[in-house]
Order: sequence, then C-alpha cells, then structure tokens
Amino acid sequence: MSRYQLTKTVVMIGMMGAGKTAVGTALAELIDVPFIDSDAQIVQAANQTIPEIFDAFGEAFFRDKESLVLKRLLDGPPSVLSTGGGAYLQKTNREMIAAQGLAVWLKVDRDLLWARVRHKDTRPLLRVADPKARLFELLGERAPYYRQAGLVVDADPNYSVQDMADKVLKQLLNHPMNILRKIA
Ligand code: S3P
Repeated sequence: MSRYQLTKTVVMIGMMGAGKTAVGTALAELIDVPFIDSDAQIVQAANQTIPEIFDAFGEAFFRDKESLVLKRLLDGPPSVLSTGGGAYLQKTNREMIAAQGLAVWLKVDRDLLWARVRHKDTRPLLRVADPKARLFELLGERAPYYRQAGLVVDADPNYSVQDMADKVLKQLLNHPMNILRKIA
C-alpha cells in the first residue's frame, strides 16, 4: 500500500447527498489520516440530532456552532474533514478553510442528489412541502459559492464511493497547492 503525507486539511464541501461523508471516509482511509465529520461533532457536543438543534434553537444557532467546530478542527492536525452542505456559504468559513485547508467540492448533478436524499428525513432544510424543488433551489443558490473551492471533482452516477475517493486522491496529488504527497 502507498504512503502519503498530508500537510493541510482536506475539507469536503457540497450539497446534501454529494457523498462528503462517504467519500471523505474512503479518502481518509486511502491516505491514512483521521476522518472527521463536522455535523457529527456538533451532534456529539449538543447531545441532540441536527433536526432537534434546528427545532430548538434555529438555523442561525446551528451555523454559529458549525463555524466554531470548523475553526477548532482546522486548528488541529491535517485530516479529511467533511462539512455540512451549508458550511461553505459563510464567508468567514470560506476564509478559514482557504487559510488552513483545501476545499474540495464534490460536484454532483441535481437528479443524482435528489435520488440520494429523497428517502431520508434527517435534513431539516428539506422538511418542506416540495423537498425536490427546495433541493434544486438550494443547489442553484449555492453553486456560485461551491465553485470557489480550491478543487472541484465531478461525480458520475456510475462511480462507486471508492471510485470517487480514488478520483479525489489523484486530483489532490496533481493539485498546485501540493498538500498531498506520495512518500512511498
Ligand atoms: C445542511 C446540510 C446537512 C446539515 C444540516 C444543514 C445544509 O449536512 O449540516 O442539515 O445546509 O445543506 P449534509 O450536507 O451532510 O447533509
């Protein structure tokens, strides 16, 4: 197995259903660094699920906690960090990520996103009368931000999680920021 050296945190960004957690986990395993999920960290700290946090305190509260968690994690050792779909919209978060990591947008076509999220009830932003329309609308609003990522990796409906992780790995190795090197 190859060995790698990672000098900055790889931050997975993109829509709900893009595969940030699944692909991030597989990538972290390939390069042998910790995988961290910012949503999971918020849930753990609050001892509540994300819908519960949204219900009890509102989205703005969640966004504040998300920024705090991101900051703490970016200050830690290099890792693969998966963020919630809204994290990259805040300018301060984008700046923190650019300073201490590399944002990787998993760019997934809207129909594939919908196919992946439609059966789940864990996303408060999609608990609306027409979740499909909301998802497409969110993608439209967010794409201009996601596009600012240091690396954009296109998904494909035929890719497995492992295929996508391999593709991210290859693109990281060729990226001008040089945060990932093969050492053996
Ligand atoms: C959100 C995405 C969720 C979670 C929260 C808000 C968003 O994470 O952070 O429900 O604004 O898109 P995933 O992208 O992991 O589903």
